[in-house]
Amino acid sequence: MIYIAPSILAADYAALGADVEKVPNADLIHVDIMDGHFVPNLSFGPDVTRAVNRVTDQFLDIHMMIEEPERWFETYIDAGGDRLVFHIEASKDHVEAAKKLHDLGVEAGFAIKPGTPIEPYLDDLEHFEEVMVMSVEPGFGGQKFMPEVLSKVRTLRDFIADAGLSTVIGIDGGIGEATIAQAAEAGVESFVAGSAVFGAQDPAQAVESLRTIARDVQETA
Ligand code: DX5
Ligand code: ZN
Repeated sequence: MIYIAPSILAADYAALGADVEKVPNADLIHVDIMDGHFVPNLSFGPDVTRAVNRVTDQFLDIHMMIEEPERWFETYIDAGGDRLVFHIEASKDHVEAAKKLHDLGVEAGFAIKPGTPIEPYLDDLEHFEEVMVMSVEPGFGGQKFMPEVLSKVRTLRDFIADAGLSTVIGIDGGIGEATIAQAAEAGVESFVAGSAVFGAQDPAQAVESLRTIARDVQETA
């Protein structure tokens, strides 16, 4: 499967509802939550998430770039989150956290910063619907894609295949027409794109172009 996830971090906040409605063909909407502590930037919180959820039936992926993510699970689920993706670096007990999310009725994901090795977490992947590999330092949109994280993606792909797991590999940061093919080739199935979608003249068309490139790579693999 291919999932294209526009990040509303790159949308026009004064016209957020209208921007979300520009991507009805997106597989999910990526909501970047930043607290000014885990990352050196602030974005928005549960009220904006709730407002987005009101204008769309699309699946909301909540990327929690915040400290003590566990404290906020109920809040973001109540705001409309369908999958909560917390940072592995910020979680005290990531397996417990995943179980809690499942008990609360939503999917669980973890995100991992470019400099954090994946090996210590491979055996815990079975508890997660998604693992999101950061291909920029989290905190800001519009940064340059870091191709060196693709070795982490390959490690994940091989492990997931060998173990027969259904965990989806996502990637976040610097994804656009110039970079999506190499990520798809390495094994990514879920692609977050902020500036490449909302910075485009026609965001829905941008989603389709990204999907076509990724699908072509997947089909020839
Ligand atoms: C960065 C965020 C990303 C960001 C991606 O910390 O997690 O989701 O919106 O933006 P682009 O696609 O512009 O790199
Ligand atoms: Zn994100």
